[in-house]
Amino acid sequence: MAGVILYCRAGFENDTANEIQQKAAEIDIYGFVKLNANSGYVQYQCYNPEDAFRLIKQLPLDELVFARQFFAYSQHLQDLDPADRIGPVIEASMSFPGCGELRVEYPDTTEGRELSRFCKKFTVPLRQALRKTSQLSDKLNVYVPVMHVFFVDGRNAYVGYSFSNNNSPLPLGIMRLKFPNEAPSRSTLKLEEAIHVFLDKEEQELRFKSGMNAVDLGACPGGWTYQLVKRGLFVQAVDNGAMAESLMESGQVKHFEEDGFKFRPKKKNVHWLVCDMIEKPDKVARLMARWLRDGDCKEAIFNLKLPMKRRFESYQQAVKIIHDELQGKDPVRYRLKAKHLYHDREEITLHLRAL
Ligand SMILES: C[S@@+](CC[C@H](N)C(=O)[O-])C[C@H]1O[C@@H](n2cnc3c(N)ncnc32)[C@H](O)[C@@H]1O
Repeated sequence: MAGVILYCRAGFENDTANEIQQKAAEIDIYGFVKLNANSGYVQYQCYNPEDAFRLIKQLPLDELVFARQFFAYSQHLQDLDPADRIGPVIEASMSFPGCGELRVEYPDTTEGRELSRFCKKFTVPLRQALRKTSQLSDKLNVYVPVMHVFFVDGRNAYVGYSFSNNNSPLPLGIMRLKFPNEAPSRSTLKLEEAIHVFLDKEEQELRFKSGMNAVDLGACPGGWTYQLVKRGLFVQAVDNGAMAESLMESGQVKHFEEDGFKFRPKKKNVHWLVCDMIEKPDKVARLMARWLRDGDCKEAIFNLKLPMKRRFESYQQAVKIIHDELQGKDPVRYRLKAKHLYHDREEITLHLRAL
């Protein structure tokens, strides 16, 4: 395998590149990055071709903040003849382990999305051809690798595979959610996606239980509070703005018109802290860590709005602030995860939990 392709939101290629270079170096893998601005993907080419396989095996995808999906590729097929695109794909995938699923995909950009119909149509004959050569199992098998054919345009594609226990199970690595009409703002989808990304189904049932208490800092008009109320939680909503009437009528919400940086709950009975205040990332990171350190919450989901130019560095700085706050005099064991969610734009979402 020659290298790794990583999908990301258009405009975040540099951040994805900086992150993969650092993460790969941490496991002694070295290479270089090729990218085009706003292309929605990054190509990481390994100096030692065998390392691409090791990279997608040893580096957990959920440790990468900016990549939505990754796979190791063997070849970049160029100038494909529209009359026979199947032959070269079969040839390029000859050395792959047997795969159990085929995904023909494209970059999540305006131009990329124009390929969506073609990719769907092309999947059918390609799948048949791959089954004939036994490169793909007859039925979907989620326990073996996934084959990826990633069309950059109609004539250029990368062919590779990912491991089904270390990839995103979602097409393009994108979680599509339906906007609930009764929610007061679209940002409700950010918290919903975060809950699905950071907690599996069982954890959601255990840790978003009816009757639990939560605090929502920067709550108005109430998109995030809506997600908590929907799950039966009681919410202290902190913001100087106006909360949606429908949420106040639920009887589960108490509105505090106060500064979110000064507010603290009266009792130590809050499980969840959520925070969507638009402020400097280091200031928000410190606040979240201090709530956890002081026992004012057990878990937090929060956004960090990152500056355009140095997003990865700014994220790393926030991680360091949280670490320093929690490893001080009375250390708190914790787990921190971060992801640039599909419903995030200039921000990333983090999950901080006391262990
Ligand atoms: C992006 S909006 C939050 C949207 C909300 N999560 C939702 O889903 O509807 C940011 C909110 O943070 C509030 N905010 C900003 N700074 C604040 C502070 N220091 N204290 C309390 N609220 C603050 C703003 O008033 C604004 O309503």
